[in-house]
Amino acid sequence: MNGESSESGVTGDTGPSRVSSADGVRGAAGSAGAGGVWSAGGAPGRGWRTRPEAPEDIPAVRRLVLAAFDDVEGADGTEADLVDALRRDPAAWLPGLSYVADAPDGTLAAQALLTRCHIGEVPAVALAPCAVLPGYQKRGAGGAVIRALLEAARAAGERTAIVLGHPPYYPRFGFEPAASRFGVLPPQAWPDEAFMALSLDGSIPPRGTVRYAAAFGIR
Ligand SMILES: CC(C)(COP(=O)(O)OP(=O)(O)OC[C@H]1O[C@@H](n2cnc3c(N)ncnc32)[C@H](O)[C@@H]1OP(=O)(O)O)[C@@H](O)C(=O)NCCC(=O)NCCS
Repeated sequence: MNGESSESGVTGDTGPSRVSSADGVRGAAGSAGAGGVWSAGGAPGRGWRTRPEAPEDIPAVRRLVLAAFDDVEGADGTEADLVDALRRDPAAWLPGLSYVADAPDGTLAAQALLTRCHIGEVPAVALAPCAVLPGYQKRGAGGAVIRALLEAARAAGERTAIVLGHPPYYPRFGFEPAASRFGVLPPQAWPDEAFMALSLDGSIPPRGTVRYAAAFGIR
């Protein structure tokens, strides 16, 4: 599946290194044994459990996103509202393509989301936002949830994913500069290295300009 046992940089002890501003963020599957895939250890109690978001997770996802972006430079505090707006838009929301990662203690530690976008007229998926609870960052939760999400998108038949994000981070998932590598153009003048694309099915992405879901407010 999603390379869970090969996830790097995570030890068996994944408890928070400090108290986070979102203490008490619990996922729906903390006690339910409700499926999902364990990473970096392969068994309950070790690593992260990745799974699709459940309806009961929605309040915790909101708190998680608020906390994750709280002190991010350039973030404007609207990321949680964006997720809610995307969830309300059937043209944007792709059921099964919002993924979460639970820590062994049941804390909902990470979320990543793919929504419908278009490259020209061709459907694709946009990765945004990705959020990890501050006390759990840089311990593999983000990587685990993003890998699981991309695998789910692949399994669902999606062909191309795009992301605007940290240039050092997303290439580890296979993303490459979208415009210079594929002719996939950003809707605004974004730096080449920050706007990236990934073929999910091995085909060459279509050329064209990306149109995000309306909730992003990007024209
Ligand atoms: C960015 C984010 C999703 C990464 O998830 P994570 O669980 O912290 O990261 P992982 O443990 O999977 O990966 C760790 C690696 O990512 C790098 N990394 C983490 N946050 C980073 C950031 N903001 N910029 C660049 N690299 C970052 C680490 O340096 C580390 O690199 P290494 O493997 O080369 O040592 C998470 O830190 C986060 O939610 N940040 C705040 C919100 C945000 O910026 N979201 C992304 C924009 S949508």
